[in-house]
Amino acid sequence: MRPTRQRSDPTETAAGSIAIVDIGELATPIGKGALRGAEMGRLRRVRGAALVAQAGRIIYAGPQDTAECKAALDAAKALGAPILDADGAACVPGFVDSHTHFLFAGYRADEFFWRAKGLSYMEIHHRGGGIRRTMEATRLASASELLALGRARLDSMLAMGVTTVEGKSGYGLNRDTEIRQLEVMRELDSLSPVDIVSTFMGPHSTPPEFEGRPSAYIDYLIGEVLPEVARLRLARYADIFCEKGVFGIDDSRRYLEAARSLGFGLKIHADEIEPLGGAGLAAEFGAASAEHLLKASKADLAAMAEAGVLAVCLPLTAFNLREPYADARSMIDLGLAVALASDLNPGSCPSQSIPLIFALGVLYMGLSFDECLSALTLNGAAALGLAGDRGSLESGKRADLIILDAPEASHLAYRSGMDLVRTVVKDGIVAFSSAS
Ligand code: NIG
Ligand code: FE
Repeated sequence: MRPTRQRSDPTETAAGSIAIVDIGELATPIGKGALRGAEMGRLRRVRGAALVAQAGRIIYAGPQDTAECKAALDAAKALGAPILDADGAACVPGFVDSHTHFLFAGYRADEFFWRAKGLSYMEIHHRGGGIRRTMEATRLASASELLALGRARLDSMLAMGVTTVEGKSGYGLNRDTEIRQLEVMRELDSLSPVDIVSTFMGPHSTPPEFEGRPSAYIDYLIGEVLPEVARLRLARYADIFCEKGVFGIDDSRRYLEAARSLGFGLKIHADEIEPLGGAGLAAEFGAASAEHLLKASKADLAAMAEAGVLAVCLPLTAFNLREPYADARSMIDLGLAVALASDLNPGSCPSQSIPLIFALGVLYMGLSFDECLSALTLNGAAALGLAGDRGSLESGKRADLIILDAPEASHLAYRSGMDLVRTVVKDGIVAFSSAS
């Protein structure tokens, strides 16, 4: 079955209403904002739970044997809402993948094998491989080709339990193709059950038209592209690859100032390959988030904690680049809010595997299961400014959830890399079922 977005039909009173009973373990973070530091490790766990939603929103999530639960279930039955029996399985919030470059044409499998033989990501980048190759393929792709590619990727995300995803532009590197990428994401958002939050990332690399002149390219983006993206309301955030040999601190600062004055939320690819100080810049701007952070200094991380900047860590990228993982343990101990995301892209991270993120988080980043789940749900939502609305299973939030093929949520990490998603509910509607 190809999942399609189902809009509420006012003539159908049960639209977006659903009840899930006999949940073996309901595991969820709690809150309407980012969880910081030790808060990340405190999930609410209910054994023998039920969840009831009306018109796409949760009206009850908790023990099944209470009068409140009975009243909510009775209301759902009166509406003719479907009743799902979880049969003792665990239930968690839908995942929020808060950092991806999912909309691109062409793959770069050869680069994976070159890196396996010892070539570095940056050596490939400077030889004209990397982002520039994907730019060439993406410029040549029509909107309908991009739509089909994006659709297929969203389908596989949904099957892994992702109900909200961030998508960055940055494979056009000129006005027309950047805008085409963002327009296609807007259309995909209306077609797919997965919600998409778009980020403009024109400064992902310097295109051939500005070869050797990254500052002139930033001028062009500030003068001609950012204002157009703002006018068309095509992106909520603006991001930049602040990295040695890509865009330096001064160009990044100019770009972020321009983006802020146009009303964009700010994100920075910071200290991924070299310790350049992007994390400190994120703190200076009070950015929504800084991402990657493999090489970020302790002082800059502390400044981020002070400024309330969220740290988005991307373990699948470190895995693929065979780099040391970001020090998420220290980040949480410093009091930061950490999100985990996939970074899906054709170069540094051709994987979108949520189960692998859990396994790497626990086995190689020193995180508890509870911290990983918070990082992939409520804190992912917070990285996108959506924590008031989703990312946890509690009354008032969107009914975005996953029923697992496992009796306990912790199996998501324990059974490394396995597909444990049985059913995905988005806005109170069954959007994916492994049986179909
Ligand atoms: O987040 N670092 C910059 N951007 C991506 C890689 C994009 C690519 O290689 O195509 C990242 O790792
Ligand atoms: Fe990225």
